[in-house]
Amino acid sequence: CVSQRFSRYTYEEYKETADWLLSHVEQRPKVAIICGSGLGGLADLLDNKTVFPYEKIPRFPTTTVPGHAGQLVFGRLQGQEVVCMQGRFHFYEGYDIQTVTYPVRVFSLLGVKTLIVTNAAGGLNGTFNVGDIMFIKDHINLPGLVGQNPLCGHNDKRFGVRFLCTSDAYDRDLRAVAKQTAQEQGCGHILREGVYCMVTGPTYETVAECRLLQTLGADAVGMSTVPEVVVARHCGLRVLGLSLITNKVVTDYDSDMTANHEDVLETTRICAQLLQELVSSLIGKI
Ligand SMILES: *[C@@H]1O[C@H](CO)[C@@H](O)[C@H](O)[C@H]1NC(C)=O
Ligand SMILES: *[C@@H]1O[C@H](CO)[C@@H](O)[C@H](O)[C@H]1NC(C)=O
Repeated sequence: CVSQRFSRYTYEEYKETADWLLSHVEQRPKVAIICGSGLGGLADLLDNKTVFPYEKIPRFPTTTVPGHAGQLVFGRLQGQEVVCMQGRFHFYEGYDIQTVTYPVRVFSLLGVKTLIVTNAAGGLNGTFNVGDIMFIKDHINLPGLVGQNPLCGHNDKRFGVRFLCTSDAYDRDLRAVAKQTAQEQGCGHILREGVYCMVTGPTYETVAECRLLQTLGADAVGMSTVPEVVVARHCGLRVLGLSLITNKVVTDYDSDMTANHEDVLETTRICAQLLQELVSSLIGKI
């Protein structure tokens, strides 16, 4: 694991961040939400907000991407206390994999029991349409399979076990509640369920790479989420993952389509609201 014998952070460092937050906010959320790129609007729906820009929080990583908010938002959603990460850390930005997942252990030390992760993803499954919402039922941790697993290094038992089971990473009961909520909201027709494959990016995939990922059984591809989910499972959090399908990947050499970030952001802007409404109603039920 990239010559990392020890972990990047000690238990005491995560604890220092968590204790500082606990002494600066009265809310004790049981649910944390990591908002994907362009999906941070969810945090604006919170009532009675307390906002901490990342750079104000001791030991918390800070965001480098212009236009990414980069703040923790505590508040109430549907009567539930929640904490939202508005702006996540991506490996492609140059953070090491344990910095990418730093906030998740802090959430656990705050008393959070459920993690909801959202992202924008490319559709690999030919039956998926732009604007669909995919419940993640499983993932392929492509970086993790080749050494970039956030659990590499010394294992601190206070967080979890050395050899983590991930075949049950995405909570079936939560997914069932989420599905029912979507049906009640009348957006059942855009619901999908599938396998999310993480790649590091920042390049979008080549035609050959897309075909490879399809062969592996992936339905959607993106550059985030999986490290956070692994660390969340390690410390015993229940996880629900949602991907907004923002583009269809190109698998044909004759295609004139090309992936670009502006289109992804534009689609996200148009479709984000449904996803946000879905998460919001769901919060009221868990
Ligand atoms: C709003 O937040 C403040 C500070 O965290 C807290 O003292 C207060 O009780 C909260 N009010 C409601 C209605 O939740
Ligand atoms: C694509 O999605 C559909 C419906 O969600 C699913 O039945 C199918 O197995 C998936 N995979 C492929 C390769 O079509």
